[in-house]
Amino acid sequence: MKMGLSLAQGLILLVTAATMLATSQAADTIVVGGSENWRFGFNYTDWALKQGPIFVNDKLVFKYDPPSETTPPHNVYLLPNLGSFIKCDFKGAKLLANATQGSGSGFEYTLMKMWRPLYFASSEGNGADCKEGMMKFFVVPLPRW
Ligand SMILES: *[C@@H]1O[C@H](CO)[C@@H](O)[C@H](O)[C@H]1NC(C)=O
Ligand SMILES: *[C@@H]1O[C@H](CO)[C@@H](O)[C@H](O)[C@H]1NC(C)=O
Repeated sequence: MKMGLSLAQGLILLVTAATMLATSQAADTIVVGGSENWRFGFNYTDWALKQGPIFVNDKLVFKYDPPSETTPPHNVYLLPNLGSFIKCDFKGAKLLANATQGSGSGFEYTLMKMWRPLYFASSEGNGADCKEGMMKFFVVPLPRW
């Protein structure tokens, strides 16, 4: 049995380790709204602006309590385009997380595609979450070099 590693084997190990390190550092987990979580009346457009660039493979976490006597329901939709985003029009929107899926550690959404804008909003209260509650924002995932 041959002991030790050849230079080539050593290099491959090194590159693999470096790649794993780079990959593990390459994704951030971002709680939407920070300590405000996902709630009515917080300006998520402003939050997204201040958050700065968001990269492909990053994870957005939406945290909100399930509805109760004291807690109104929220959800997470992906809106089809800028027009529907501006108008809070949920026609053709895709439900990502219902009213109960934001509890506990929250609902996690990985940003898979770069450059394509993603429009997020809550539709609850017949659209009031989105219209009056400011529960909408968009991100454009950037490539990470
Ligand atoms: C939310 O924040 C954005 C960006 O800072 C700002 O342009 C907008 O006026 C704010 N909306 C409200 C309703 O305050
Ligand atoms: C939300 O989705 C979960 C998982 O699919 C399901 O078990 C639950 O009944 C749904 N809740 C509501 C309020 O629709």
